[in-house]
Amino acid sequence: MVAMKKKGSVAGMVLCLSIVVSGPVFGEKAPSAVHGKALFNSTSLGGAANTRTCNACHPDGRGLERAGGNPELSRVINTCITGPLKGSKLEPGSIEMQSLLLYIKSLKQ
Ligand code: HEC
Repeated sequence: MVAMKKKGSVAGMVLCLSIVVSGPVFGEKAPSAVHGKALFNSTSLGGAANTRTCNACHPDGRGLERAGGNPELSRVINTCITGPLKGSKLEPGSIEMQSLLLYIKSLKQ
């Protein structure tokens, strides 16, 4: 009985923690290609304080149709964020990175 109670509260805590930790910068709760597209057009991706977006260099994702198969895709994305966008790297497991991956994978024809 006591053990079960404990289990419940631990699970509750883990749930709360995971909600706080994964607290998305742009208010999304789950990764999606739609969200990825919004980030692709966002000037504040990775905390970057400039006016550039991914879309500025890759209009509508053109040229990235094959990038979805790249096993290093998240690393490449971070290179573009820290380079031209002068932003900070995204965590590979973050909703932002996962959404960008989904968006880029959705470009495949
Ligand atoms: C200043 C221009 C510029 C910006 C802004 C930019 N990129 Fe890039 N990106 C490049 C260049 C140049 C390359 C390397 C050449 C290529 O593959 O097109 C590249 C390559 C890539 C690739 C690899 C393409 C492949 O075929 O493997 C991906 C994926 C990518 N960028 C995504 C992004 C994302 C996501 C953003 C926004 C966070 C972004 N880029 C912002 C210029 C840019």
